[in-house]
Amino acid sequence: MSEIAPHGGKLVNRIATEAERPNLLEEAKTLKTIHIHPREISDLEMIATGVFSPLEGFLSKKDYDAVIANNHLSTGEVWTIPITLSITRDEAAGLKAADKAALVDEEARPVAVIYIEDIYEYDKKKEAQAVYRTTDEAHPGVKYLYSQGEFLVGGKITLITRPAHKDFSEYRMDPVKTREIFKNKGWRRVVGFQTRNPIHRAHEYIIKSALEIVDGLFLNPLVGETKEGDIPAKTRMDCYNALTEKYFPKERVVMGVYGAAMRYAGPKEAILHAIVRKNFGCTHFIVGRDHAGVGNYYGTFDAQKIFDEFKHGELGITPLFFDNSFYCRHCGGMATQKTCPHPEAEHFSLSGTKVRELLNAGELPPQEFTRPEVAD
Ligand code: ADX
Repeated sequence: MSEIAPHGGKLVNRIATEAERPNLLEEAKTLKTIHIHPREISDLEMIATGVFSPLEGFLSKKDYDAVIANNHLSTGEVWTIPITLSITRDEAAGLKAADKAALVDEEARPVAVIYIEDIYEYDKKKEAQAVYRTTDEAHPGVKYLYSQGEFLVGGKITLITRPAHKDFSEYRMDPVKTREIFKNKGWRRVVGFQTRNPIHRAHEYIIKSALEIVDGLFLNPLVGETKEGDIPAKTRMDCYNALTEKYFPKERVVMGVYGAAMRYAGPKEAILHAIVRKNFGCTHFIVGRDHAGVGNYYGTFDAQKIFDEFKHGELGITPLFFDNSFYCRHCGGMATQKTCPHPEAEHFSLSGTKVRELLNAGELPPQEFTRPEVAD
């Protein structure tokens, strides 16, 4: 078995070469500018480094419409979340198709160049319903969408300068790198794990269950934008390190961060998350209960059911589904409804809200819920 092909067949690389960079920087000074926000900068980096292969830029109208209407790009690959660049009406007035523009960050530094394919209006409510299955502004993904500019700019990009990251530099690896690592380790089957929470025993249980049938684990926490109330990435990284050091064989785990923003799009985001891990070189991807969910917008297993909507082989990566996992006092260990016959009264689990309450009160969650090293 050779390594898994990236989504669309080829790993995208839209990073300017050393030779191109000085000229692009000069040219950027002469171009019209578009100010981009942290989320767009992170998407830009995901596009340029191949994490979002086969995307080579922000979605043009034909791709945007195809994604909204039927979860595919116009070129046929599965894609469920529009990766877009929004601008205001005023900004749009100064730009037109076939222009090149400089994408500049909050300090007006040029980050990339976009080759504008089109500039188009879009229906935010329609996108909200299609992607988030709700138009409710209380949903964090919908809220962000509603705050965007009125127009979208589509077109390929070239990244001039890699965003400067203050954190996790040793865990920032491009797909080229992770693929090389997996290959050097001789891993033929690799399971990817997405997480945005401190790692609890339920996570540990499903990861270990998956690891039993593959060669290695790619622990891939999301460190892009998350909503208020989520635990900061730095704390979570400490938790992941505490757990892997004490409870996993070192040689079976590679940890790298996923730099994109959390969309909280439940099922649609589970598909994006799977595609991203395929691009990193994973052959399998874990989808547990309420993957990428928030509030009560999605059914507990909607993010698993959506995988059935795609034709066999279209996605390329194999999803591994897990039921809700909990500690069972009677079993004396972690289990799910599939493996434990005991009544719910024997089961122990905590909601995220409850955990935050405990931590805020200076109390540690119990051992049945979290390993003490992680709780610390
Ligand atoms: S997520 O937004 O990234 O999905 P989280 O970090 O909590 O949130 O979950 C990471 C993965 O673990 C997801 O696939 C999720 O479905 C799964 N998961 C989390 N808790 C449980 C649990 N108790 N039982 C089964 N799967 C779970």
